[in-house]
Amino acid sequence: MLQQSKTLQLSHFLADDELNKSQLLALIELAIKIKNNPSDYNQALAGKSVAMIFEKPSLRTHVSFDMGINKLGGHALYLGQQNGKLGERERVSDYAKNLSCFADAIVARVFSHDSIQGLAEHASVPVINALCDVYHPCQALADFVTLTEKFGDVTQVKLAYVGDGNNVSHSLMIMAATLGVDFTLVTPIGYEAKSTIIKKAKILANKSGAKLNITSDINSIGAQDVIYTDTWISMGDEDANKKSKVIAHFLPYQVNHSLMSNTQASIVMHCQPAHLEEEITTELFDSEMSVVFQQAENRMWAQNAVLVTLLA
Ligand code: NVA
Repeated sequence: MLQQSKTLQLSHFLADDELNKSQLLALIELAIKIKNNPSDYNQALAGKSVAMIFEKPSLRTHVSFDMGINKLGGHALYLGQQNGKLGERERVSDYAKNLSCFADAIVARVFSHDSIQGLAEHASVPVINALCDVYHPCQALADFVTLTEKFGDVTQVKLAYVGDGNNVSHSLMIMAATLGVDFTLVTPIGYEAKSTIIKKAKILANKSGAKLNITSDINSIGAQDVIYTDTWISMGDEDANKKSKVIAHFLPYQVNHSLMSNTQASIVMHCQPAHLEEEITTELFDSEMSVVFQQAENRMWAQNAVLVTLLA
């Protein structure tokens, strides 16, 4: 384990574009190893404590970090909004410095990527991004663990994300481009991924040989192995007026059986929470093609690989 963490040389886990292909493959391999041999790692975090700051709601992230840290013999502390928003009652730098006095690592789910960067800049312990407005790296890592379990060599997989150009799509596209996975991003006009992220992904794809297809035309999606979707309205962007407009605009991008059969895809993925009959039909979400609960479980194993790499 120690040898692995030296090879990986990670100080934080903040954004997908900070990881190279061999680091990603090593994390995927370690996650599967921990999943298959959990007792070998049950003291990996013995005596270590992890502070978890959540500015936004969470089911999977909160529970998978808490239970995962417990499975590694460590201690997790959940901090909701009782101490006020990051940077309001206390500066982000003071959060980072204070938590570093007590904790061995900080996990943070925040509104702004600047807060994650601020925490990492001022903490003397590793910081893990548990979702921000730009990235969701823990989710993408878990998803490539799931794809590795399903397909073996992920570089042979054709993966398409259909829906809002959000944090989940960014992380997935950057990881796919880094790993050399052919990736299609289909987003409605006006809801595209950030241009800075697309630019980064193109540079990474040129290096890895991944084919990137970025389009708003759902009919040009082509043959795929896997279709991925996420909510059309992310946490923090909700507003009643926006919802009806967004739903009407996104309906042609709904992931349903007809899209699966047009693309010949055999697997559907969703990071959850799902808004059934919006971005995905209930029938497809509950179908044999859906790996959403494998994805959810793999959040824990992927995050444990990150924690072991950063801390053990
Ligand atoms: N894009 C979603 C992901 C939820 C796990 C959000 O940010 O709300």
